[in-house]
Amino acid sequence: MRGQRPGGGTAAIQHLSGDMRASTLCVFACLAVAARSAPLPPGSNASFAEDYLEKFFDLKNANASSPNNRRLSPFNLKLREMQQFFRLEVSGVLDEKTLEVMNKPRCGVPDMGEYTTFPGNLKWPNNKVTYRIENYTPDLSPSEVDQVLKDALEVWAKVTPLQFTRINSGVADIMISFGRREHGDAYPFDGPEGTLAHAFAPSAGLGGDTHFDEDETFTSRTTAGYNLFMVAAHEFGHALGLSHSTDPGALMYPIYSYRDPSTFILPLDDVKGIQSLYGVGGKGPVPPPKTPDACDPNLVLDAVTSLRGEMMFFKDTFFWRSLPQSNQQELHLISSFWPEVPNNIDAAYENPSLDRVFLFKDDKVWALSGYDIAAGYPRSLSQIGLPARITKITAAVYNTQTKKTLIFVNDQYYSYSGDLKSMDNGFPKPVANDFKGMQGGVMAAFQVKDLIYLLNGSSMYEFNARNKTPRRRLPANLFLGCSS
Ligand SMILES: *[C@@H]1O[C@H](CO)[C@@H](O)[C@H](O)[C@H]1NC(C)=O
Ligand SMILES: *[C@@H]1O[C@H](CO)[C@@H](O)[C@H](O)[C@H]1NC(C)=O
Ligand SMILES: *[C@@H]1O[C@H](CO)[C@@H](O)[C@H](O)[C@H]1NC(C)=O
Ligand SMILES: [Zn+2]
Repeated sequence: MRGQRPGGGTAAIQHLSGDMRASTLCVFACLAVAARSAPLPPGSNASFAEDYLEKFFDLKNANASSPNNRRLSPFNLKLREMQQFFRLEVSGVLDEKTLEVMNKPRCGVPDMGEYTTFPGNLKWPNNKVTYRIENYTPDLSPSEVDQVLKDALEVWAKVTPLQFTRINSGVADIMISFGRREHGDAYPFDGPEGTLAHAFAPSAGLGGDTHFDEDETFTSRTTAGYNLFMVAAHEFGHALGLSHSTDPGALMYPIYSYRDPSTFILPLDDVKGIQSLYGVGGKGPVPPPKTPDACDPNLVLDAVTSLRGEMMFFKDTFFWRSLPQSNQQELHLISSFWPEVPNNIDAAYENPSLDRVFLFKDDKVWALSGYDIAAGYPRSLSQIGLPARITKITAAVYNTQTKKTLIFVNDQYYSYSGDLKSMDNGFPKPVANDFKGMQGGVMAAFQVKDLIYLLNGSSMYEFNARNKTPRRRLPANLFLGCSS
């Protein structure tokens, strides 16, 4: 079988060549985080990286793919390609950040190239596509599986003229089954974790077929195990002709992450991809979520906080995580870190003496201990000590110079000593009384060293943390690596 790469184990990926029914196999290979958390034995980082580049970046054909780069070693060339794909610093050095990304759970389709469709634009010749569910997983009831798979196809039908019809006998375009290990195609599954599922790009025969690894635990209503809706929606993207996207917010991004199926809306990048194949159609105008751009001069942040020396900048369903001594920011889905925390956070602050970060949304508060949600949360605003009249806040910051917690509700603010037990006299007060020059309500607030930053819209106002002396007006995305 040409195109199949050796190595077996976790993530076999195969762009099959034309003679194999012109199918492209996609393996949704979620390498278990746990499986990689043990320290790598000495000397293994490079060989692990080599293995990764071979599976996902076609290391073997490094020379052929980039004739202009003969001075770089194939490993170096492909490492740079990988770093570019994942928007890491393109150093050609196998640094910690790069290894971290290589260790993430992901789909098994290779990432070479920037296309969102398979080479040759494989697609179904007409818009009526059939599917058949051949068997079921014991993890969920058959009716749940039916519904989840229907919903996962509906994700794509909502924005295209595609119509999916379920058939119960005969050969459908998309044949769906659950199987373990050797399950009737040439690509055996690998037991628990590792590969979750695989799907073939559109064509006759195996094309479009989607197989789920029965050795995984699939769930539909909890965040445990692997959410069948998320796995299926991604795989059906391949079954309809989409390859991977470099957009970290896209469903077709190679790295798996959990999102709440009940609120999931297909992101803009995937909408563009599938519409490039099938055109515009479907039920219409749900605006697709766009992945925020850190360098957008009109960027408006929801909330900003520190967390044990890192910074987190919240925006819609995402947050950027910025690590000290690095000018690189990682963009993550909030739900991939804390499935229970809502999107569109109102406010966030860290109290370093409690070693807690507090996230606010409407009248609820979540406390983080490191990256874990602390027990006993969410609580209501009044449970943590705020006056009952406050039902939503817009920003918060703990001033490490004065040991005060400042809670902002638009253009008013409240000051507390330490934790939120006792409010200082004379509050609430207009923000502009104390923070001279601040224009508009405070929608995000944070501290860096001895400076306090208050944000409204795409403007950020800098103040001395000790005496509130105004200093500068700055762009809100200053700390997101776009100051050039
Ligand atoms: C790539 O080309 C160089 C020089 O032409 C050669 O030394 C090297 O072995 C080639 N590597 C591969 C992987 O083909
Ligand atoms: C492998 O990478 C990790 C993370 O960068 C590092 O801590 C470790 O020392 C490396 N091991 C070797 C053998 O280079
Ligand atoms: C700026 O502050 C005003 C006044 O509180 C508020 O109405 C407006 O929504 C804020 N702008 C943004 C973009 O948050
Ligand atoms: Zn994939």
